[in-house]
Amino acid sequence: MEYKLITEPRYDDIIRHLRDNFFADEPLNKAASLCQRGEGHRELEQLCYETLKDNLSLMAVNERNDIAGVCLNGVVYPNDIVDFQERVELSEDERFKKIFRLLNAHNLKASIFGHFNVDRAFEVRMLSVDGRFRGQGIAKELVQRSEQIARDFEFKLMKADATGIFSQKILKSSGFKVLSEFYYDKYTDEFGKPLLLVEAPHIKLQLLYKLLE
Ligand code: ACO
Repeated sequence: MEYKLITEPRYDDIIRHLRDNFFADEPLNKAASLCQRGEGHRELEQLCYETLKDNLSLMAVNERNDIAGVCLNGVVYPNDIVDFQERVELSEDERFKKIFRLLNAHNLKASIFGHFNVDRAFEVRMLSVDGRFRGQGIAKELVQRSEQIARDFEFKLMKADATGIFSQKILKSSGFKVLSEFYYDKYTDEFGKPLLLVEAPHIKLQLLYKLLE
């Protein structure tokens, strides 16, 4: 497996990989039935392209240059969450809103920039491995190599919204710590009905961080 920075000629292949893997399998997308496998999603893809343009994202490719996994990394600034939430509210897709209202509210409450004295953070935004290549350590390697990129660009803080137990395990094994967590069964409507039925073994969202010396 080779690990490379993602450049523009591969952007559309990356989106295809994400449609076939992340969009359907990521625990919150899956709970909301956001996409069928292979299906696109306008707002999610806009976020992917914006992230790719930060030029910090990595892919793992096999000897045939097929994409086995990706780690989409982006820069976050203190006002980004509020701005993004305004965009989320403009979406006509209630499932998309449900997912990102949870993520944005959790981030606002945790206030990572208030916690650490930094003016930007390197975000591990979408970690995705093709179903045919899972369980071979590719995600772990992508995270470790992403940290090296963060260091090269002199970031002092890395963060991730880890939505499932495996991404949480992977990030923690790379030295990430929990800033805050939220149990999915607490995310309910006004009648106490859960808004997202997230499948076991995924029970909580964790905002994970790593300070870089
Ligand atoms: N069952 C049991 N253990 C698992 C599983 C699994 N399904 N997936 C990963 N692990 C464990 C491995 O055993 C390994 O542990 P070890 O180091 O103790 O041996 C560790 O997690 C690392 O596993 P990798 O092989 O590096 O993970 P993989 O390459 O299979 O990718 C990933 C994991 C990215 C979570 C993949 O399953 C996937 O693409 N899922 C769908 C998308 C998703 O949920 N992404 C994360 C969302 S959060 C975010 O993007 C910030």
